[in-house]
Amino acid sequence: MSDLMSIDAASFSARYLRMPPEELDERIRRAKATLGSRAVVLGHHYQREEIIRHADITGDSFKLSQMAAARREALYIVFCGVHFMAESADILAGPGQSVMLPDLKAGCSMADMADGDQVEECWSRLESAAGRDPALPVTYMNSSADIKAFCGDHGGSVCTSSNACEVYRWAYGERPRVLFLPDEHLGRNTGVAFGIPLDEMAVYDPLAPRGGLSDEEIRRARLILWKGHCSVHQRFTVQQIERLRALHPGIRVIVHPECTHEVVGAAEEYGSTERIIRRVTESPDGSVWAVGTEINLVMRLAATNPTKTILHLEDCVCFCSTMYRIDPPHLCWVLESLVEGRPVNVIRVPAETKRSARAALDRMLSLPGA
Ligand code: 13P
Ligand code: SF4
Repeated sequence: MSDLMSIDAASFSARYLRMPPEELDERIRRAKATLGSRAVVLGHHYQREEIIRHADITGDSFKLSQMAAARREALYIVFCGVHFMAESADILAGPGQSVMLPDLKAGCSMADMADGDQVEECWSRLESAAGRDPALPVTYMNSSADIKAFCGDHGGSVCTSSNACEVYRWAYGERPRVLFLPDEHLGRNTGVAFGIPLDEMAVYDPLAPRGGLSDEEIRRARLILWKGHCSVHQRFTVQQIERLRALHPGIRVIVHPECTHEVVGAAEEYGSTERIIRRVTESPDGSVWAVGTEINLVMRLAATNPTKTILHLEDCVCFCSTMYRIDPPHLCWVLESLVEGRPVNVIRVPAETKRSARAALDRMLSLPGA
């Protein structure tokens, strides 16, 4: 996690935890009405229903940050998502806007798999094997502001799960080798879609001596994948897909590209949370889908598409435990604190990091089709 400033973070009052759900709902509504257009509540697709019903805007991580920044009249952006999303919103926010994360413990295990020092060490390792400017660094949106800043400082870019291919197209026009951070799977799936053979990819393990790669392996690779993953999406398997196909002939399987290459290869379709929602929503009545992503989104899709059968790919509950930390007691506390004129859990990316990270985000935004 990059440097964050939390004002009064310790004062979350346990009395909110004892309030009945109806009282919390009512208090959240009242606080929002009092704040009016000064505050905007953002809800990522993986948030639980009790939060989504209070969100002014729902979307994927990138859309939410963009929408928040576009609402310049909103002084307070209450981000119901995880830490890297709130950071990205702060990077894109205008002067005078503040971003709040209702529970500071809502991190992302994938984003935490790459820290600034480890990435600097990786870069030195690549330079020692392949010389100056050994690769173009590209980082997934799911990374800390420090990592985005690293990419900005080395001519690289951010990407999201919906525009990773366009970003690769640009990146390979700049340099012959890409270093993709921090999700091995999204990096590999995008590489395959882009036409890079698997044997021209190498995995850099930050926990292994010398990254687990020889100089020759580094020089031979066109794509170097950081060894990071999402604990939610890595759980999906090809066996789960085969089991559902046997039970429901004609079922269509759609998964998020944070799943392994084998799972993406076995599915009919894959895409970002926004794409998954669009494909399922636009499908004809009677369609049968198996969806490989976070459970809250899948349950909402099933509820909003009652004429279709929508199944989760995995039998046992598979939710993002850090997203789940955002609950009505914390949302109520943040909003009521704002009503009292006392912002809490403010996420502030330091100015220098912000400038460099913004350069990487702007590079992505300037690409045609990205
Ligand atoms: P999206 O960018 O598709 O919203 O995904 C975010 C995420 O955390 C997926 O695990
Ligand atoms: Fe991070 Fe995975 Fe949760 Fe997405 S689902 S926020 S990648 S841990």
